[in-house]
Amino acid sequence: MVSEIQQLKQQALKEIEGVKDASFLEAIWRKFLGRKDGALTRILRGIKDLPEEERPKIGILANKAKEEIETKIKEKKIQVTNYKSQVTRIFDPSLPGKKQEFGHLHPLTQMRYRVADIFSSMGFEILEGPEVETDYYNFEALNIPKGHPARDMWDTFWLRQNEIKNLSQRLTPTAVGEKSKIKNRTGLLLRTHTSPVQIRVMEKRKPPLRVCVIGKCFRHEATDPSHEHTLYQIEGFAVDKKITVANLIYTLRSFLEALFEQEVEIRLRPSYFPFTEPSYEVDMRCLTCGGKGCPACSRTGWVELLGSGMIHPKVYEAVGYPKAIYTGFAFGIGLDRLAMMRYRIDDIRWFHSGDLRFIRQF
Ligand code: FA5
Repeated sequence: MVSEIQQLKQQALKEIEGVKDASFLEAIWRKFLGRKDGALTRILRGIKDLPEEERPKIGILANKAKEEIETKIKEKKIQVTNYKSQVTRIFDPSLPGKKQEFGHLHPLTQMRYRVADIFSSMGFEILEGPEVETDYYNFEALNIPKGHPARDMWDTFWLRQNEIKNLSQRLTPTAVGEKSKIKNRTGLLLRTHTSPVQIRVMEKRKPPLRVCVIGKCFRHEATDPSHEHTLYQIEGFAVDKKITVANLIYTLRSFLEALFEQEVEIRLRPSYFPFTEPSYEVDMRCLTCGGKGCPACSRTGWVELLGSGMIHPKVYEAVGYPKAIYTGFAFGIGLDRLAMMRYRIDDIRWFHSGDLRFIRQF
């Protein structure tokens, strides 16, 4: 009898343990403790027929087993009910869904794509060059030899020898820049403008050329509302046999009108760049005030946009082109400044501020 009671108890506890739904607990209760024919109930009922000396021992054992089974059923009931309500909570189809946050392209990236589209539609190839440049490409080949005062126009970040070693191991070849060239020349720097790509392209190709390069440049600037240490430039150049300043003006005006979707007025002022002759600064009539004068144009009615000119004979010499055969124009525009004008942004530093209140407006 003792072992029968223990066996029943073990079996009941085992069955209760495996239950996942409360309705099964009731069946188990009936099977072992049901008033009519529960297995343990039958034993309890039969105690009165046992020899007198056995009755207390079996009685205590059977009642203890009954209590244990009842407690286990209660505990299990709480457990499965909680589980069920959790499951219901997770899958409640009446709850609203979680809103997904969608990002979008940074305003400067949007501008880059737009500019690339416009120049492609004008027949320009879109190319790129390395952001880490050699002294040769950034300065020397552009007619800015060591010690030349024109180097002061570009506040440069130079790389230390150990940084150069790490970089030359990691750099991958780009469209027009090669690891081997970087490795073999000393004096590495973060490029200060996109003009070195002119040299890289012309070294490899013969005219006719129509190329647009959009990329990051770096300057050791004291930053202010119109100066950043990291900026994007759009370099454009065309080389052929009869390219003139008229082609430069037409190209720039067509580009600006496509970008701003309105007629624009530009003017050329004499300037100086060692790699162009003659050189010009190009201004655009201020779109904010229409030329009357406002804070955006420092009350002059004109906004300075870019540097440009006719490619210098020394540049052709550096890339090995024959003398006096080709002519070409080149220009370098600040992409960030164009974006500032297009979106009416009053401080260039917003672009890299990481402030989502700014970014979400585009
Ligand atoms: C140059 O960088 C020349 N390479 C441009 C050029 C190319 C001239 C081809 C002739 C032929 P400059 O330093 O002026 O020139 O820079 C060109 C443009 O980059 C500026 O007009 C301005 O729009 C932008 N820029 C220059 N420095 C900064 C800066 N710190 N922050 C934001 N934009 C800048």
